[in-house]
Amino acid sequence: MSKLFLTLLLSVSCLFAQGVKFQRAESCGKCHKEIYQQWKNSKHAFSTPEKNPLFAKIYEKSQKDTDGETKLYCIRCHAPVTMINGDFDLKEKITNEGVTCDVCHTLVELSDNPKNWPNIYKPGKIKRGVFRDSKSSVHKNSYSKLLATSAICSGCHGDMLDIPGTRSCGNLTICDTDFEWKSTSFAGKGEDCKSCHMKAYKGKTAKGGPIRERIFRHDFPGAYSPEMLKKSVKLNLEAKEFEGEMVLSLGVKNQGAAHLVPTGPPARMAFIKVSAFNKKGEITWSNFKKNPVAEDPYGVFHIVFADVTGKKPSMPWLASKIVKDTRLRPGELRKLVYKFSAKDVEQVEAKLFYRLF
Ligand code: HEC
Ligand code: HEC
Ligand code: HEC
Ligand code: HEC
Ligand code: HEC
Repeated sequence: MSKLFLTLLLSVSCLFAQGVKFQRAESCGKCHKEIYQQWKNSKHAFSTPEKNPLFAKIYEKSQKDTDGETKLYCIRCHAPVTMINGDFDLKEKITNEGVTCDVCHTLVELSDNPKNWPNIYKPGKIKRGVFRDSKSSVHKNSYSKLLATSAICSGCHGDMLDIPGTRSCGNLTICDTDFEWKSTSFAGKGEDCKSCHMKAYKGKTAKGGPIRERIFRHDFPGAYSPEMLKKSVKLNLEAKEFEGEMVLSLGVKNQGAAHLVPTGPPARMAFIKVSAFNKKGEITWSNFKKNPVAEDPYGVFHIVFADVTGKKPSMPWLASKIVKDTRLRPGELRKLVYKFSAKDVEQVEAKLFYRLF
């Protein structure tokens, strides 16, 4: 008798635990096929150590450098399901889905205490979205202002490095794409994160659902997308010859991103390569041979930190000071001038390179 009682009690608590769990993306994919396919190939689906080897490596290094202080910190955004299921060793499949459907569609509140995890979820039957008239047989739908605006993105694309209790980082605003965007004319015009990263198109959101004029892509293209990178920066090169010298004026304009270029992880870097060629197509001059940072610092767009001892460059989790920030501000036109001997110069060329890591 007492045994039976125990099993009953166990199954009740199991049911309860299931009620507060996130659901697997695959299960949503049965009806939201197209959205699921888009999401599945997005960086959001590859944010955990299991799915993103680069992240795994850097994550491990950060833990070594800080005696494990970053273990729970980094994983908040990269495996946000841990904030609900506490699976910090990343054993469950759902945890390794990274920024999965329910992470966005069960968000109910953003706490305004930046030291804490801002995203507050209510997993379960109610899926939050942007339509006021949608109906589904398996879940309830609810309109959410957070999803209808860029607020939904700010919980993770906001400042990353306020690790409470770590030795430094404290007051540096480092990876705050949301903050970078807020003061721009894009924000003023209502062009939010989604207008560029979740393009609207006409279609069906679910099997059996109506055709809608505006539904939103879920592949979240960013710095890994050549099209997005091409949209972000425009180069304008003017060349003049003056008293045996070539004088190049190069305009570098961040015209397509509503935030810094590069934004996000401090390892991202963009740099200019200018080359002059003779008739045979051989290089007669270039702004750098090996290392753009050392040879042409004005042509490099990045952020550099120093640690508490002043050593630079420092990894972001050990950073205590920003020593240089030459990233391109939204709308900014940076002008660069290059002068060199015009002898044998037949053609000049300027290229912008983007280094992910
Ligand atoms: C990073 C957050 C995020 C993730 C992850 C995400 N969504 Fe969305 N989803 C949104 C936002 C934001 C909108 C509304 C877009 C708008 O208003 O511009 C949306 C819209 C939708 C809609 C309404 C139709 C449409 O396309 O606009 C459905 C259905 C949907 N999502 C299902 C899913 C499913 C299924 C998954 C997982 C495979 C998923 N979402 C993953 C943020 C997300
Ligand atoms: C049995 C099919 C089915 C499954 C499974 C399903 N949905 Fe839906 N969902 C629908 C239908 C149908 C709609 C309404 C479509 C419309 O009106 O455009 C919908 C609408 C939505 C919306 C839009 C809500 C709004 O008001 O804007 C979201 C968000 C959503 N689903 C998320 C999810 C998530 C997340 C999952 C997985 C946990 C999921 N759905 C699983 C059928 C399904
Ligand atoms: C006007 C269009 C536009 C708007 C609005 C916009 N972005 Fe971007 N975003 C871009 C372009 C173009 C790129 C590619 C250039 C780059 O990576 O710097 C990009 C790149 C990114 C990347 C990739 C950066 C990396 O290093 O991996 C992220 C993340 C991102 N945006 C997030 C956001 C967020 C969050 C918002 C809202 C606060 C936002 N974007 C608003 C155009 C936009
Ligand atoms: C729960 C946290 C979370 C939320 C909410 C979130 N993101 Fe992300 N996002 C991430 C993480 C983590 C990555 C990095 C994945 C990786 O590369 O390992 C990422 C990657 C991206 C990228 C690709 C960056 C690249 O390197 O190319 C874009 C673009 C992006 N997010 C846009 C958005 C937009 C737009 C929203 C709001 C609709 C949003 N994100 C909401 C956590 C989040
Ligand atoms: C506040 C949320 C947040 C926290 C905390 C966070 N990240 Fe990220 N991380 C992101 C987002 C969002 C991106 C996507 C790129 C972007 O922001 O431009 C990203 C991208 C990355 C990337 C690049 C992945 C790629 O594929 O290019 C690495 C590496 C990374 N993070 C490492 C870390 C480490 C290590 C920590 C802890 C010290 C950490 N992150 C903490 C949100 C976060």
